[in-house]
Amino acid sequence: MAMPLMEIFDTLIDNITEQGYGILDGFLNPSELKSLSQILRQRHSDGAFKTAGIGQGSEHQVKAGIRGDHILWLDEYSTDPAEKAFFEKINDLIQYLNRTCFLGLRDFEFHYALYPIGTFYKRHLDRFRHDSRRKMSVICYLNENWEPTDGGELVVYLSNGESIKVSPTGGRLVCFEADKLEHEVLPATRERLSLTGWLRTY
Ligand code: OGA
Ligand code: MN
Repeated sequence: MAMPLMEIFDTLIDNITEQGYGILDGFLNPSELKSLSQILRQRHSDGAFKTAGIGQGSEHQVKAGIRGDHILWLDEYSTDPAEKAFFEKINDLIQYLNRTCFLGLRDFEFHYALYPIGTFYKRHLDRFRHDSRRKMSVICYLNENWEPTDGGELVVYLSNGESIKVSPTGGRLVCFEADKLEHEVLPATRERLSLTGWLRTY
């Protein structure tokens, strides 16, 4: 792994260990951001996205009062250069987390998410009731020129009772322990785009 990437991962991991979450700006460079947001918009207008639900398998339900985003799962064997580059960086992060924190991460799953104007995702935990493989939640934002007045913050509820608000600025990566921190997505005044996923153990 390139040295500068190791150093920024170090800071991210220190923050995850100390505060339960970490934020890394510029995880995607501007051209990666542009390509991935273009793919997202293209596939969304092609009708490839589904309204997201809650629960897994037979417990799956669509509930607009809980979450209103549209999602499309990525193919981990994608040959698209931007998606491949994204997965390479995620694999670097997995290797680094395993080496430094012994998390035993094995694979990942990611979906594109588009929140139409005014939609949200109420306070929740990411881990499914019958599936504990999701260890780390990772969100990478694909919004160019996001302004504070656009809203759409991620609110993370910390274990000390406080909460933080994170603006979905393009290129920014947020990472936290999937089974520990409740969080929610506030409504935005423009479409809100992201790549959201989980790093999983066996
Ligand atoms: C999720 C989620 C947060 C965000 O998809 O489970 O909590 O900031 N997303 O998009
Ligand atoms: Mn979540």
